[in-house]
Amino acid sequence: KRPYDALMPLPKAELHLHIEGTLEPELAFRLAERNGVRLPYADTEELRAAYRFEDLQSFLDLYYELMAVLRTERDFADLADAYLARAAAQGVRHAEIFFDPQAHLARGVAMDTVVEGLWRALGSSERNHGVSTRLIMCFLRDESAESALRTLEAARSHLDRITGVGLDSAEVGHPPVKFRAVYEAAAALGLRRVAHAGEEGPPEYIAEALDVLGAERIDHGLRCLEDPALVERLVRERIPLTLCPLSNVRLRAVDALTEHPLPALLDAGLMCTVNSDDPAYFGGYVGDTFDAVREALGLTEDRLRELARNSFLASFLEDDEERRGR
Ligand code: HPA
Ligand code: ZN
Repeated sequence: KRPYDALMPLPKAELHLHIEGTLEPELAFRLAERNGVRLPYADTEELRAAYRFEDLQSFLDLYYELMAVLRTERDFADLADAYLARAAAQGVRHAEIFFDPQAHLARGVAMDTVVEGLWRALGSSERNHGVSTRLIMCFLRDESAESALRTLEAARSHLDRITGVGLDSAEVGHPPVKFRAVYEAAAALGLRRVAHAGEEGPPEYIAEALDVLGAERIDHGLRCLEDPALVERLVRERIPLTLCPLSNVRLRAVDALTEHPLPALLDAGLMCTVNSDDPAYFGGYVGDTFDAVREALGLTEDRLRELARNSFLASFLEDDEERRGR
């Protein structure tokens, strides 16, 4: 038993989790066989050996490649159910789950297949795993604004399943402003809004996500530290950051976990949460992440409890506009 296993039961919400990033090599091979898809890797070991990333793009290349095994409703249900079981075992009680429909539509997999497949697992998650869920549809920022608008249109008949919209994929060169129109349309449909910003992109993208897209949370947001006035604003407006420390190490946004600025971000008074991002690729689920930051950064148990409490405060579990004083 590891020293920190005692924290696994600490109830946590996970707010930054790409469901396609929970595809473990074993499941990838099982789905490949089931669907007659050939993967360019001999076995799970060879695939795992490919998990050495230089940056966000080198990860995304593999992340999109492996999605080829996801074809049917049952595949998406199996994927989400496997994540929910693992998350529940690590103390996750609520999960707000990203998915990337454009990556599936481009392969000829229908929106209906993706959403209804995921929903098979999400709709029974409280009963089966004790985990409540929300679904957040992400737009790929390296695709066009028109493609994002078409994707929102394709989701119109599924909005009873979808709580909000997000923005992910390759960040640099794709500023939030590119997606002004689709976020306006999403807001008009009553969808909540989040966006990845300040992972590899500059602090200006964080401000733009707030000002132009109306983002209620910033996914990653790490690079806010380069702009003290922005940090002050994020503190004042109680904007949650969904940090992913293991992801930052694997994608080389930070040199080592011991160098992660999480303590500085907490000391600045920011509303930080800790999440797993793409746990099959980055070496840990959310409980593992709590363990790792505690060990590497020497966070006190009070700090870890604060992070867990923040995860619920920053969630869309109930309308939190009032509580956050906005
Ligand atoms: N950043 C951007 N896009 C992504 C990520 C991420 O960490 N994970 C999956 N898509
Ligand atoms: Zn992410």
